[in-house]
Amino acid sequence: MTIPVLTFFNNKGGVGKTSLVYHLAWILSQTGHRVLTCDLDPQANLSAAFLDEDELEALWKEDNGSQGKTVFKCVNPLLKVGDLLPPVLQEITSTLKLIPGDMRLSGFEDKLSREWPEALGKDPYRPFRILTSFWTVMQKGAEDLDATVILADVGPNLGAINRSALIATDYVIVPLGADLFSLQGLRNLGPTLKSWCGEWQERQEKWKPPEFELPEGRMKPLGYIVQQHSVRLSRPVKAYDKWVNRMPKEYADNLLNRKSGPFPASPQEDENCLATVKHYRSLIPMGQESRKPIFDLTAADGAIGSHATATQDARRDFQALAKLITDRAGLIPTLPGTPAPLSS
Ligand SMILES: Nc1ncnc2c1ncn2[C@@H]1O[C@H](COP(=O)(O)OP(=O)(O)O)[C@@H](O)[C@H]1O
Ligand SMILES: [Mg+2]
Repeated sequence: MTIPVLTFFNNKGGVGKTSLVYHLAWILSQTGHRVLTCDLDPQANLSAAFLDEDELEALWKEDNGSQGKTVFKCVNPLLKVGDLLPPVLQEITSTLKLIPGDMRLSGFEDKLSREWPEALGKDPYRPFRILTSFWTVMQKGAEDLDATVILADVGPNLGAINRSALIATDYVIVPLGADLFSLQGLRNLGPTLKSWCGEWQERQEKWKPPEFELPEGRMKPLGYIVQQHSVRLSRPVKAYDKWVNRMPKEYADNLLNRKSGPFPASPQEDENCLATVKHYRSLIPMGQESRKPIFDLTAADGAIGSHATATQDARRDFQALAKLITDRAGLIPTLPGTPAPLSS
């Protein structure tokens, strides 16, 4: 059995992908899920949210043996003649683990580009091994943790690393900012996912039976998430509405191929909108400083007065979003939920 992979994707940067993966990973791991997160962005921001700089430096060292301590170290032997290394997971808690990212992963981009056409050639074994390496590494990690779900964070582009991340993906969630760039991103994203999906099916069809297990490459869009924080403060509400109210149509048209309306007039009325994530303001730097999700911040971390109330609101928001996502993806928790820590 393979473990479902959820990827948060938009080729626009700064729309809160990494923050969402981080917070959802935490909340799911506190509500009965066993969560594996994988940092497939060479910028490694997700890893930096979970681990401090000394820990990261130790993981990135060249000479810490031939172990799969980062995603790049797992796939690196494929750049020569070797095979994948199994991942060495970083334990965040007993129900939350990380396959750390690595800035050197960008060196894998060219290799993945070259192997894509080769997978249609006469000797597809190695091309398939390379193109599916992220999926294989994530599934091996999920097996170790007995994970119920895998959350992947990716960079903001439509390159070969992300194509491999997406063929490893069962469900895609699209975070959007309230601006032209996010809408334009949807127009690129939809057709790109469609073509990656089709091209992956074509490759799978040609290699039958495959000599090892392959991902399905479903890439099913689960919905979009509107991020309020990406709105510039000086911008009037009218400008915000102008962009967000175009999201229902643009999402349905580009991601679901639904060309004709009527479309909902706003994200609030749209079942494809999973949530509108608030601007959490100073809680965000507080969480980064304490290396904690914002809903676990306590008085000792500086969350006092209205901040303390805001942490509890944030917990409710993320619990609701997690419930919607798990329901739609059919994910079933295996453990009783861990009670939320009390704020002191
Ligand atoms: N809900 C939020 N409220 C306030 N700031 C946020 C929120 N979500 C993300 N941010 C901040 O916005 C910036 C971009 O977020 P990030 O998650 O790194 O986006 P991406 O991964 O899409 O580039 C970061 O500085 C992050 O701390
Ligand atoms: Mg990011």
